[in-house]
Amino acid sequence: MEAIRFQDSTLYLLDQRRLPHEETWLRCDTIPKICEAIVTLAVRGAPAIGVTAAYGLVVGLQDVQQRTGRITAEDFKQVQDTLAATRPTAVNLFWALERQEKIFRANPKEPLAALLEEARMIHQEDIEMCRTMGRFGAEVIDDGDGCLTHCNAGALATGGYGTALGVFRAAWEEGKKIHVYADETRPLLQGSRLTTYEMIKEGIPVTLLCDTMTGQLMKSGKVQKVVVGSDRTAANGDVANKIGTMQVAILAKHFGIPFYAALPTSTIDMSLASGDDIPIEMRSGDEVAGFGETLFAPAGVDTFTPAFDVTPHELVAGIITEKGIVRAPYTENLKKLFA
Ligand code: MRU
Repeated sequence: MEAIRFQDSTLYLLDQRRLPHEETWLRCDTIPKICEAIVTLAVRGAPAIGVTAAYGLVVGLQDVQQRTGRITAEDFKQVQDTLAATRPTAVNLFWALERQEKIFRANPKEPLAALLEEARMIHQEDIEMCRTMGRFGAEVIDDGDGCLTHCNAGALATGGYGTALGVFRAAWEEGKKIHVYADETRPLLQGSRLTTYEMIKEGIPVTLLCDTMTGQLMKSGKVQKVVVGSDRTAANGDVANKIGTMQVAILAKHFGIPFYAALPTSTIDMSLASGDDIPIEMRSGDEVAGFGETLFAPAGVDTFTPAFDVTPHELVAGIITEKGIVRAPYTENLKKLFA
């Protein structure tokens, strides 16, 4: 399953706002279209945002080249800054833009071919990292496990294959008969719309539940493992992920269920000592007061709108990466991972 394609000098994104009922590809041939797709979650998930930004720079600079006949360092910076301003939490966005900046500096005269090659490499590497991570993660999944996840950390959220769902895919490919439980993930329903869609396509048994039902599900004994993705993980192992993840981790601790985060090393921000420093995106109150065109709450009601929360590392049993599973003490062991 793929959500991002680059063909004939144009970026195509599977419009995730319309899933699961419509599979429509957006033709993103300008920077405003790409930024709108990121901000409105037509493309979403930390690694997928990074891949999109890497291709986005190519699209934006192709346009500059066509209009002016050349690409300057100022042009690069302007396109880079525009893409960087779309969403603040997923560090893969900034990581991919920085990788492309190095490529631009090394090829200032004719940057386009090198930038496209790098974008394709970022995309391909992400798929490979997810597959490797999946194999490591599958080690903690036992035959017959009930596996809970929150939001969508699947093929749609990455270059392909997925992080948390990549772990489930790998366990399933190894013949382990798992059952996935998908929290619906208010307010934008990534679990309900996207995780179930991916698991059904894959033939992996999946059950959908409202976020408020997670404690009751755990109490019933149906969940043996929790695996989620991450938008940014700090140097001490604090994990930022979709709002509601921290509550899941607290519940898992209460019921003695191991809580894992699966993420590529491109999601780890070693410049931040703890999760307190991770910028948390606040979104429009409309997403809390209703969904799409439907308003549930009284018009104009005050709303609280964080898109992410930070799970303290004390609640994390392990961080599954493409380089292996990192366990506590995280500050020490994550440092070793980057050594
Ligand atoms: O707001 P979203 O849908 O972009 O949030 C996505 C998540 O929180 C994912 O769990 C995270 O990016 C990891 S995706 C592999």
